Amino acid sequence: MTSTFPDISISTERLVLRPYEEADIPALAEMMNDELVTAWTSVAQPYTEDDARAFATRIAPAERTEGRGIVFAVTEFLTQRLVGTVHLQNTDWRIRSSEIGYMTAPWARGEGYASESVLAVTQWLFDDQKFERLELRIAADNTASQQVAQKIGCISEGVLRNAGIVRSRPEEDPGGRWAEIRTDLIVWSLLPEDLDVPPGRGSGDEGYVAFADWE
Ligand SMILES: CC(C)(COP(=O)(O)OP(=O)(O)OC[C@H]1O[C@@H](n2cnc3c(N)ncnc32)[C@H](O)[C@@H]1OP(=O)(O)O)[C@@H](O)C(=O)NCCC(=O)NCCS
Repeated sequence: MTSTFPDISISTERLVLRPYEEADIPALAEMMNDELVTAWTSVAQPYTEDDARAFATRIAPAERTEGRGIVFAVTEFLTQRLVGTVHLQNTDWRIRSSEIGYMTAPWARGEGYASESVLAVTQWLFDDQKFERLELRIAADNTASQQVAQKIGCISEGVLRNAGIVRSRPEEDPGGRWAEIRTDLIVWSLLPEDLDVPPGRGSGDEGYVAFADWE
């Protein structure tokens, strides 16, 4: 039997992480067409509203129902604007290990949103879902993403040589064609005991609240 994550939302101090909705489609398409998202992830380029619709209504829900992981739309609690995505993927239910990917919309960067949302998902994964390992694979030159990993307490484990593909275009031609180039990936990981407050030993103030969507 395939295991699946529950259909839940997670609240933090400033954010609500919830399943994607049709209303997110325009903001999702805009975020996916950003330069850094194109450079460092494998999303389609250009990314159309049809791509966003397929992701929000079919691909993201299937990640959960087919047991591979779970996709969260990250929204600002106060404005309800879409600020990013957090995606658990390649989940191994026997090992109780999962891999996390994330992005923040360009206008929302530098506010600590990626670290806040990734940390909340990690705490929920370890505490509520009793997982034992979270893994991140980050292109060697993706400084911003390595900073997120470091900030939430991940340990760098080593290099997967030539294991990834990123996209680049010449600095002198910012409107030019993207070229795919191979890159090393840095593997980072987080175990429950790496968190400042290990799961199950908190004071009741774990920094996140998870709730089922039907509540
Ligand atoms: C990586 C990314 C998600 C970071 O999002 P963010 O919400 O701006 O990140 P945060 O605000 O939580 O920043 C976390 C830390 O990283 C640092 N940081 C963020 N962007 C940085 C940059 N461009 N250069 C150096 N440090 C950076 C912040 O200063 C912060 O550290 P601090 O609190 O000690 O100052 C965002 O740049 C992005 O969407 N990039 C494109 C997609 C991508 O690369 N995804 C990851 C694929 S593995």
